[in-house]
Amino acid sequence: MRFQGKRAVVTGGASGIGRATALRLAEEGAEVLIGDLNVADGEEVAATSNGRIRFQRTDVTQAAEIEALMTAAEDAGGLDVVFNNAGAAGSRDRIDEISPDDWDRTMALLLRSVAMGIRYAAPLMAKRGGGAIVNTSSVSAFGSGMAPTAYSTAKAGVLHLTKVAAADLARHKIRVNAVVPGFITTNIFTSALGLEGQVRDHVNGMIAQTAAKAQPVQRAGRPEDIAAAVAYLASDDAAFVTGTHILVDGGMLVGTRASWDEDVPGLFSTLEAASA
Ligand SMILES: NC(=O)c1ccc[n+]([C@@H]2O[C@H](COP(=O)([O-])OP(=O)(O)OC[C@H]3O[C@@H](n4cnc5c(N)ncnc54)[C@H](O)[C@@H]3O)[C@@H](O)[C@H]2O)c1
Repeated sequence: MRFQGKRAVVTGGASGIGRATALRLAEEGAEVLIGDLNVADGEEVAATSNGRIRFQRTDVTQAAEIEALMTAAEDAGGLDVVFNNAGAAGSRDRIDEISPDDWDRTMALLLRSVAMGIRYAAPLMAKRGGGAIVNTSSVSAFGSGMAPTAYSTAKAGVLHLTKVAAADLARHKIRVNAVVPGFITTNIFTSALGLEGQVRDHVNGMIAQTAAKAQPVQRAGRPEDIAAAVAYLASDDAAFVTGTHILVDGGMLVGTRASWDEDVPGLFSTLEAASA
């Protein structure tokens, strides 16, 4: 019950990582306010929470709506924890194709939203004597080929923003950290493809099978894996942790696939085969 008496805001809490985190924080005693575009699923999460989770429709690309979300949490008794997490794939165009507007839209969704989440939460937390902010980055912040170009760039920005915001806000006893998910089975992939209903469920099943083989830990990454790390970073267990990130990727970033997958030939087995 690390969050007894605490109040949290979770963006993107209607689905996936945000949903699992809202439930985890509420299980550990927090009162949680979810901000999400998806009204039906947001209200469903709230309805199954014994009143510990509330929902407010919020578009995180609109700074005024983020401010209204933080103010609503403050009006309900104060703000201790914020998880800036809402997101989607954004533009999937390559750098030599993307339009300026699509670039800006993706940055507004994935980077400016986090900056504004911090911007509007920090003064409210400062008034209470401190707080904890966690932002969602991605393994794609560390290299190419894991997500679209604009998305990866925004997620790398989230990591840097996390560091500099931690420095800015230390004087208010506000800690700022990031979680870096690997391949986690949520609706983000089917949403990017515009799939719904039974087709979405079918493709999600296929994704879960693929996900089990995507990294050294041979099972699909789950939203609950990320929620556990966010709960740690947001709690007093992490009281001496700020300006950094936790990778929760099943080892995806340990090195090349050949280093852990026996079916993929590494440098020496390739050389041996060539010289045999
Ligand atoms: N699933 C993964 O493998 C993975 C990996 C790395 C990072 N992430 C990041 O994790 C975060 C959560 O994604 P997820 O995988 O849980 O996906 P998801 O699709 O299950 O959940 C994302 C939620 O964000 C909401 N959302 C999207 N645009 C919004 C907006 N403009 N305003 C408010 N809410 C909005 C959606 O309605 C949805 O409820 C995202 O930032 C994503 O980029 C996911």
